[in-house]
Amino acid sequence: MTLLSDRTEAGSLRRTHAGEVIHLLGWVQRRRDHGGVIFVDLRDRSGFVQVVFNPDMPEFAAAERIRSEYVVSIQGKVRLRPEGSANPNLETGEIEVVAESLDILNGAKTPPFYIQDDVDVDEMVRLKYRYLDLRRPEMQKVFKIRHQVTQIMRNFFDCQGFYEIETPVLIKSSPEGARDYLVPSRVHPGEFYALPQSPQIFKQLLMVSGMEKYFQIARCFRDEDLRADRQPEFTQLDVEMSFVEVEDILPMMEELMVRIFKETTGREVPRPFPRITYKEAMELYGSDKPDIRFGMEMVDVAECVKDSNFKVFTDTLAKGGRVKGLCAKGCAGMPRRELDGLVQYVSIYGAKGLAYIVLGEEGIKSPIAKFFTEEQLNDLIAKLKGETGDILFFVADQENVVADALGHLRLELGKRLGLIAEDALNFLWVTEFPLLEWDEEDKRFVAIHHPFTAPMAEDIALLKTEPGKARAKAYDMVLNGIELGGGSIRIHQRDVQEQMFDLLGLTPEEAKAKFGYLLDAFEYGTPPHGGIAFGLDRLTMLLTGKDNIRDVIAFPKTQSASDLMIQAPSSVDDKQLKELHIKTDILPSKAK
Ligand code: AMO
Ligand code: AMP
Repeated sequence: MTLLSDRTEAGSLRRTHAGEVIHLLGWVQRRRDHGGVIFVDLRDRSGFVQVVFNPDMPEFAAAERIRSEYVVSIQGKVRLRPEGSANPNLETGEIEVVAESLDILNGAKTPPFYIQDDVDVDEMVRLKYRYLDLRRPEMQKVFKIRHQVTQIMRNFFDCQGFYEIETPVLIKSSPEGARDYLVPSRVHPGEFYALPQSPQIFKQLLMVSGMEKYFQIARCFRDEDLRADRQPEFTQLDVEMSFVEVEDILPMMEELMVRIFKETTGREVPRPFPRITYKEAMELYGSDKPDIRFGMEMVDVAECVKDSNFKVFTDTLAKGGRVKGLCAKGCAGMPRRELDGLVQYVSIYGAKGLAYIVLGEEGIKSPIAKFFTEEQLNDLIAKLKGETGDILFFVADQENVVADALGHLRLELGKRLGLIAEDALNFLWVTEFPLLEWDEEDKRFVAIHHPFTAPMAEDIALLKTEPGKARAKAYDMVLNGIELGGGSIRIHQRDVQEQMFDLLGLTPEEAKAKFGYLLDAFEYGTPPHGGIAFGLDRLTMLLTGKDNIRDVIAFPKTQSASDLMIQAPSSVDDKQLKELHIKTDILPSKAK
């Protein structure tokens, strides 16, 4: 048996090793018998190497027994492959190892799928046998990068004087916008802990505690609807600093991102990252996380259409709505069927229609042209910088519907027209988010970021008059249309925090019951502070080019929040429930 300390990594072998006797430890990728000689591709996490077993070696009979995924220890001599048998597709393709001894460390059943990249396996099977899925070189590469990212983060913050501090996981329900996962208490019958949606309040309390600079790679839990970039438990790089303003935080985080991209992928990211206010982002892209890898910005056309005879537009304007358009370059040849499809597409986002003007070679084609004078039409075309060969699209509706519908249409057209360079890295800061948003259903304001975010100094007076108009000292980092992280400067005075809770509809008693400890802490010399949190999983997705968050989490959950390998969630026995003082009359099988 070879000791790990004597072992040579399979993927590291090159022609310069020829003649050396080496030890390998790993898995059998493949065994082929060739006229009495056995070839084995041996895999470890560094790569593959070809091993040759000649019939005259002592353990040849054992070599005949080995199968895919057997775990073996091999001693052998490296030699150049014979003339004509080198494999240029393999890094170790110029050499092979002639086995001198073989030790089978463990056998393996035939795996349910080939352990190789580019194999078409149902994700459910991959997740059930995740330990086999993770053996694939592609997955090994992802987790190597993920590891590198966390090491760079730790090193970066350590060099800047941050402390890495753990905050508790069994806490009290705190609002971050999603539902909490609850944990029943055995010693406090009928009471529950909540798992943290983020370490937000604790990191603020660490600032009250005088830690000044904190970071943590923290697990967060949110019981929300899952998507391709959302998991119920995920990891944040969480950061908080005392005595800071927005201008301290953003450049530091840019520096971190530049370093991560450079050191893991060799890619250069230019600084400073562009910035856009929330208002501009919504106006131009209809999104607070715009993908700026391409243009096709939305344009307000109210001025050009307000005197037309198209009632859909004029009525919308009269009711305080918006009419906006965008110009799809070179799309005039789009078949009618596809145009109809786009009308269907925007309806998903609430648009009642999609008006268009085709600027064809033979003139203008449009179902709405008849409602406009020639001058008005020319005005409209000029406003959108339309040229022959383009199509102009318009949506008229309430502001949020126009933003959503045209924003999604823009992204869809960007994809269909191939305007999005796959390898582009377009970082962007979105700033000056509104502090609050009116919730029509609950008839109250909700915090856009979270209730601890400070208003912009010039907007504090608005909290008393028009709270919905106040802007926050909040910022999001966006990369290629994905929200990578977000943070803010926090409220650090008790009275402002109380005013905020009041705006959010909490009575003083409720505020005290939920956040009394924080309000109290604010009275003992709280420094001004602020911070940010990044989604580590999302960042890894973008670094590795994956389009699903499950591919960058070692043991992820499915769309329905299940772990297929360990089969969680699961029912528990009555004794456990009794100890936890929980009674349930729902049998798991019936609940499903
Ligand atoms: P926020 O809620 O914006 O801010 O979260 C920060 C970042 O975490 C990532 N993220 C997720 N990733 C995967 N699955 C999820 N379900 C999920 N939810 C969020 C995103 C997001 O940008 N306490 C504040 C930060 C602060 O103010 O400092 C917070 O949690 O990339
Ligand atoms: P109609 O008069 O309803 O037949 O609509 C004429 C054109 O205007 C059609 O192409 C519709 O898709 C479009 N349209 C209808 N409602 C809207 C709207 N709210 N915004 C943009 N276009 C619309």
